[in-house]
Amino acid sequence: MNARIPDRLVAVDQQAMAPEILRKRREGVDLAYGRMKDRLFRVCAGIVSRRGVGENELLDLASDLLREVGTLPEMWLERSLKRAASDHREEFLVEHSLNVAILAGCVAPEMELEEEVRIELTAGALVHDIGMFEVPKDVLVANRPLSDSEKRIIRAHPELGRELLRASKVNGVVSRIVHQEQERLDGTGYPQGLKGSGIDHLACVVGFCDTLESVTHDRPHRSGRSFADALQQLLHAGRGIFPKDLWIAALRRVTPYPPGTGVRLSTGRVARVVRTHPEAPLRPVVELVSEGISLKQPRVLDLRHLPMVHITARLDLSSSFLDSSVNAPAQ
Ligand SMILES: [Fe+2]
Repeated sequence: MNARIPDRLVAVDQQAMAPEILRKRREGVDLAYGRMKDRLFRVCAGIVSRRGVGENELLDLASDLLREVGTLPEMWLERSLKRAASDHREEFLVEHSLNVAILAGCVAPEMELEEEVRIELTAGALVHDIGMFEVPKDVLVANRPLSDSEKRIIRAHPELGRELLRASKVNGVVSRIVHQEQERLDGTGYPQGLKGSGIDHLACVVGFCDTLESVTHDRPHRSGRSFADALQQLLHAGRGIFPKDLWIAALRRVTPYPPGTGVRLSTGRVARVVRTHPEAPLRPVVELVSEGISLKQPRVLDLRHLPMVHITARLDLSSSFLDSSVNAPAQ
């Protein structure tokens, strides 16, 4: 087994890093992302071909990913929000699944799960859409309304996934996550229409991260939303279909404006986030800055108490190499 995964994610103040260090770390995360993607591709190919894949291979990949995400969570979160490199079906599915697992890895430390459970959660996220590999490409990437029979094919993917995993001798928690990640607390999910506590909690986590990833990325029939928009949409639409403790964990960890983030306000002023409110992630406490540095007379604004002022964009105050391919959290 690999080195122990940290219990708590290490908060990284990206603004405090020198631009060169920041760039190198981003490159490192990009490279590690590519390696994880290759490994996940091989795992998925093994499962789908029914050649089988050792359960340990999947759990080792989950463990390694969790450890990587734990060292630089904000950069991994940024990486998970990049637009897909390809619309090739297999590559699209692998990137989507890896992104969902990264989001799950960001949320998990707030849920006080045992290390073994966090690894199973991440493994479930990595293969949550394995059944989608059995869906014909013209249905999966259709840029048109689906027929009823095509919808039935899509909605069969949790069952297909469980069968594929069974053939690969991957059972237990991971299989349950794959089978239930589309179930919703109010009974509107599928395939069984389970309700409330009848749904595995880890499957709810994966379902939440799956929805968040999907809303923030382009699909054939719509454009991806900004991260802040996606969170706001889930805050409104997701209450009642995802567990409350999951909301709290997600809002603590998957915050769009972590401390140190540069932002532009609706007043036109530039500011730096100094503190976040878990219950109001889009309205942090900010300090006004000028040309990236604090004012001589610091002005701190708590946006929670200023309803007429909101954040219009995220800015990189420390350098000029803002990665434009990262979804800005607000327009
Ligand atoms: Fe998915």
